[in-house]
Amino acid sequence: MSGKHHVVVLGGGVIGLSVAWLLAREDLAVTVVDAALPGSSSWVAGGMLAPVTEAWPGEDEALALGTRALDRWPCFAAELGAASGRDPGLRTEGTLVVAADAADRADLDRLAAYLAELGREVQRLTARQVREREPALGPAVRGGLSVPGDLSVDNRALLVALRQACRLAGVRSMTGRVGVVRSDGVDLLPDLHTDGPGSSGGPIDADLTVVAAGAFSATVWPALRGILRPVKGEVLRLLPGELSVPPPRHTVRASVGGRPVYLVPRGDGELVLGATQAERGFDTAVRAGAVRELLADAEVVMPGISEYHLVECSSGLRPGTEDNLPLIGEVAPGVVLATGHHRNGMLLAPITADLVLGVIDGRPVDPVVDPARFGLVPEHRSSTVDREAGR
Ligand code: GLY
Repeated sequence: MSGKHHVVVLGGGVIGLSVAWLLAREDLAVTVVDAALPGSSSWVAGGMLAPVTEAWPGEDEALALGTRALDRWPCFAAELGAASGRDPGLRTEGTLVVAADAADRADLDRLAAYLAELGREVQRLTARQVREREPALGPAVRGGLSVPGDLSVDNRALLVALRQACRLAGVRSMTGRVGVVRSDGVDLLPDLHTDGPGSSGGPIDADLTVVAAGAFSATVWPALRGILRPVKGEVLRLLPGELSVPPPRHTVRASVGGRPVYLVPRGDGELVLGATQAERGFDTAVRAGAVRELLADAEVVMPGISEYHLVECSSGLRPGTEDNLPLIGEVAPGVVLATGHHRNGMLLAPITADLVLGVIDGRPVDPVVDPARFGLVPEHRSSTVDREAGR
């Protein structure tokens, strides 16, 4: 390891890879271990970077954290694009939130009032104004909000860019399932039938281990049981046919009969339609009823979607916490959590990497994300990796 300190990152999703890339740029030796389990939320995600339209009265801390996270995104995307030579797929057209019936409109009014109270930039739109902006939206749409600051990213383009940036920065990647996390490394299980390096199992020594395994984090750090839970989200991907209406330019979010639905356009014409929210353990089967419900709700908002080609039905497991805020901080000597991002993994990935770096540098843990709020208290708060000494 050429005398550098060694960090093992458990999890090869957007959180793990963002952390790995940032730490490798700081001249730490980094290995990413990914278990390649079904249910990766990074692969399935809609990719909304949407602190304002995810906000709900009372969740002020989530909104403040999300806003800080969003501010970080343009620079992160530019640096990632330059480092990887790949476009990470940031879209800046903004978001429209629309309502389909009187009850949905009441929800929208509540959200608008809350955001106005906080001085956020939102603009009320009549039904006609909504359709002027997005002609594909149907007559059921009663009105909406324009939130130009809420953006989106192509989750799969982002993963490709992060993997390439990590490779170029010297990050090692392994496939393997972790048995035990110790203060001086991890033990991989030997029983995986994978093609990749690491499948034979065994110990990996490390000065620091970052647990970034999303909904699977409790399987490697058992103290998370009862604190972190998988929240399943089913998501569809569609492409316009030859005679279809073009997809919207903005992210379109709606509440239909009280159920949230969103349409997130990609640069290649794909439209991502999400998402259900169900707590069914680690089940990742896509239910027929979920597909029917998502399509029916989307059709209320955008009738022309029925002519689109359904190209993928998938599901991911969000790592949920009780307060919907992530867990970022040291929980034992040599062990740092970067998990629990629930619906906001894409949005929070860059700021999570910054915060992990802050932990390594011995900066105080942000109380909003501190795992200590759930009783996960480290024995000490000092830095476990002396980066200066490691260079
Ligand atoms: N970020 C949206 C979702 O989790 O469905």
